[in-house]
Amino acid sequence: MNIFLLLSPLLTLSLSFCLSLFSIAHGWRLLSSFGHSVKKIGFAETNNWRKTFDELRPFRIESREVLKTIPINDTTLSKIRGFYGLIGPDVNASKVSTLYELFTGDGLIQGVFFNGDNITFAKHFVRTEKLIFESIHGRFSKNIMMTPIYVLLNKMGWLPNVLGLANTALLDLQQKTDTGRHIYALFERDSPYQIHVDFENPGISTVKKRNIPGIAHFSGHSKYECGQVHTVDYDVMTNHLYYFRLNDARKNRDVSKSVISTRYIPIIHDFAVTSKNAVFLDAPFVWDFTNTVKKIPVIFDHTNPAYICLYDSSRKTTRRIRCPDPFYIFHYADVLEKDGNLEIYAPLYDRLDFSSLDISGKYRRVRVSPSGQVVIKKNSALERLNLDFPRKWGSYVVLRAIEERAITGFVVCKGLDIIRRIRLPAGRHFCGEPALVEIEGEPFIMGLAYDGDSLGYLVVLGIFTEKYIEQSLGVPLTIGFHSLFLYDQL
Ligand SMILES: [Fe+2]
Repeated sequence: MNIFLLLSPLLTLSLSFCLSLFSIAHGWRLLSSFGHSVKKIGFAETNNWRKTFDELRPFRIESREVLKTIPINDTTLSKIRGFYGLIGPDVNASKVSTLYELFTGDGLIQGVFFNGDNITFAKHFVRTEKLIFESIHGRFSKNIMMTPIYVLLNKMGWLPNVLGLANTALLDLQQKTDTGRHIYALFERDSPYQIHVDFENPGISTVKKRNIPGIAHFSGHSKYECGQVHTVDYDVMTNHLYYFRLNDARKNRDVSKSVISTRYIPIIHDFAVTSKNAVFLDAPFVWDFTNTVKKIPVIFDHTNPAYICLYDSSRKTTRRIRCPDPFYIFHYADVLEKDGNLEIYAPLYDRLDFSSLDISGKYRRVRVSPSGQVVIKKNSALERLNLDFPRKWGSYVVLRAIEERAITGFVVCKGLDIIRRIRLPAGRHFCGEPALVEIEGEPFIMGLAYDGDSLGYLVVLGIFTEKYIEQSLGVPLTIGFHSLFLYDQL
């Protein structure tokens, strides 16, 4: 019997269900990015009781954190002033056996401060209510069957939100306040946590959780655009997408809420905001309770088309545009409105199978004409690559490339033309999303990498040059989702 059918009365409450859906989206992308031996996919953990008992003991969060100053080995690094941070779940990807275990790792920021003659490497755990509770009382079980119970007890006010993990992305509001810059650690099933990045005395700390009246959950891909914060929440039971805009982001008020009905289950990982519209993809995710072998009762129905939803905030109307094919988008590279056309550049996924990790993002252009006709343009050279996590630099887009489930390099595109392919040296793989950084007028890709022993490196490499800089950090690194670079001056 499918575990979700067994739990369905509780799941109608049903944050855990939403968590499972999100874990499909993001944990899946993460797993597909790392070449470790993750072979067993499923939520029915039954053999972890011994480990669970080991983890019942209280612990000191600080004992697993790092703050380390390292002399630089390349003068180019001395010209950088700022901070690179990668956030992700605190898990050893070589040992996890389920997506759920991977996804429910506590938010860990791995970051590098650039101070001139040296760098400071820091590992900081976001002090979520869940992690602080666990440090005092011991770990919660990660058995999926316990999650609905924990959620219920949280609703009764007896436990913290066990789904509050702050492990997905960092959001910079580009504003300076008495408590430092407004930087938030995000997780799709919780409110954001404000993070303090201290440039004076290099280090990272958690300021506090920011509860926002009227917004239960804050998307991992919330955006700061033109003085407004844009975010989404969704209800998988009623097929409703909630689109929020905060006009006073610093004080978390003046919230406007729009409700958008979707044709399918609204698993919205990312979205885009243009001058006219908010852009969402309504991909054909549907319930499927017939296959009791599969653990997740949601399938990507490749017999039905995707729809692009354009929400006009000024008119409060939604235009649904039928696409010729089904596809899914995890991350948008660029969305342009010109001459009445809408152009979306993004890695598209033609098929998704929740029982498989073999998925491949194809970087394409989706053009929507004023009449609503959708044309998808492909480049045959790009079709042979597995690309995602796009980063925009002027008119260029840099995408990370995966080969054999490891990040082995990057592809620089202009439109759908490949400008350059960049390969990492043998034995080096990126931990997660890089940032694009300007050093003396020249763009570089910056990120954290690991070797065969999981030892970590700061890597900086030219987007348009052969320049490659590697700085050993002397500590093991873990995998991450999204990153950001903060220049020390706003
Ligand atoms: Fe993402």
